[in-house]
Amino acid sequence: MSATPQVEIRRLDAMCGAPKLSSQVEVTMGECVRLVPMSEAEFGTYEQATVEGYAEENVQAGYWEAEEALERARQSLRQILSQGLATPGHHFCRVEDVESGETVGTVWWFEDRAGKVPRAYVYYIVVEPRRRRRGYASAALRAMEAEARGLGMAAVRLHVFAHNHAAIRAYERLGFHTTSLTMLKPLSS
Ligand SMILES: CC(C)(COP(=O)(O)OP(=O)(O)OC[C@H]1O[C@@H](n2cnc3c(N)ncnc32)[C@H](O)[C@@H]1OP(=O)(O)O)[C@@H](O)C(=O)NCCC(=O)NCCS
Repeated sequence: MSATPQVEIRRLDAMCGAPKLSSQVEVTMGECVRLVPMSEAEFGTYEQATVEGYAEENVQAGYWEAEEALERARQSLRQILSQGLATPGHHFCRVEDVESGETVGTVWWFEDRAGKVPRAYVYYIVVEPRRRRRGYASAALRAMEAEARGLGMAAVRLHVFAHNHAAIRAYERLGFHTTSLTMLKPLSS
């Protein structure tokens, strides 16, 4: 009989000596990860995965049909990112664990300077499935917030689908609150 494999589950809050995440507690886990700008090659892989993920989310939310989803997702991305990785104001980052140097996820955010007050907009954050629930998304968003603050952003906005309970919970714990809701009622014929 083989021995049970030892799986090391590290939590960033424990590693950094920071208190466990709580909306009441100010945590500083951003220093446990660093945001590294993507290279062209990394962006190519990322773009394809983002198209697939965005298509899937829209199908799941009931907005798009499965057959059209990929093309619609591709078009949306093309519209937003007219110059790809070099599109002004857009930041594409790998989330790197400072200690191990490993990439644990990605963040795509934008400097939205169109309104009265400049605000960051998080287009997408993903943590690798096997690295979830260790505080990486929270740490990455903290790091992103610090970067955005440094660039003059006064707030951070994002959109999340209602079915994405994990993300909603993570955002709420970081201090985000809901500013609008889109509701849907299917009509039977
Ligand atoms: C959403 C996502 C980025 C969260 O990443 P993560 O690194 O696991 O998040 P964290 O470890 O920082 O979690 C912070 C808190 O969020 C909540 N949370 C995260 N995942 C959760 C889940 N699956 N179920 C319930 N709560 C969850 C918990 O309260 C968690 O704190 P806890 O672990 O102390 O209980 C990750 O699940 C993901 O990549 N999902 C797929 C892509 C996606 O949906 N991105 C968001 C698009 S808007």
